[in-house]
Amino acid sequence: MIIIGHRGASGNYPENTLSAFQHAAALGCPWVELDVHQLEGELLVIHDEQLDRTTNGSGSLAAAGLAAVRRLDAGNEEQVPLLSEVLTLLDGKVGINVELKGPGTAEPTSQLLRKACQTGRWRADQFLLSAFDHAELQRADPIFARGVLWGRPVPDMVERSLAMGGQWMNIALKAATEDRITAAQQAGLKVAVYTVNEPADLAAMRALKVDAVFCDFPERGLQG
Ligand code: G3P
Ligand code: MG
Repeated sequence: MIIIGHRGASGNYPENTLSAFQHAAALGCPWVELDVHQLEGELLVIHDEQLDRTTNGSGSLAAAGLAAVRRLDAGNEEQVPLLSEVLTLLDGKVGINVELKGPGTAEPTSQLLRKACQTGRWRADQFLLSAFDHAELQRADPIFARGVLWGRPVPDMVERSLAMGGQWMNIALKAATEDRITAAQQAGLKVAVYTVNEPADLAAMRALKVDAVFCDFPERGLQG
């Protein structure tokens, strides 16, 4: 079971910051997950469209503007990183699941990741693009694997994930039943489950032969 550091090692470091990604890498995480929003042509690594929860700012990203967002503290006196800065930090050593959070993210993310591959420091199979916004996900460059995110289960989610060109079906812990996992895997999809932090849940996902879990405390999953 692959342990994906969710928003980096976000249980012990401010989520989606360079220190959270650095720590996940230092723990030996093979993959990290992060969330991106597009603002003024740049890709900001932040979960919410509102600044209040994870920075010392307030209001929306769009209202603040890029320069002001970059002056904020995202925790530990760190900036809200750009996706390009995370690529530089991790330098091809850890796979990255880029979750496309907002509109207009698929194309610039695809372009940036393609450029990263052209440097020779990254391979396309070190990236996974995912989104709850399935229309946005389908605008992503198909050279990168797609993870189709489901907030709640629907009866035909396996067929729809495949129809969208998904290689992964990414589901919530409460939806991670043996029937769903088996059906997806038998159809050729890999299954990733979010967010799995409790040791008992990690063990249960392992027993169900889930392919990957998103975990805020990756050291817990890496121990198992
Ligand atoms: O991609 C898995 C997980 O990150 C999806 O939910 O809200 O944590 O981005 P959220
Ligand atoms: Mg996410």
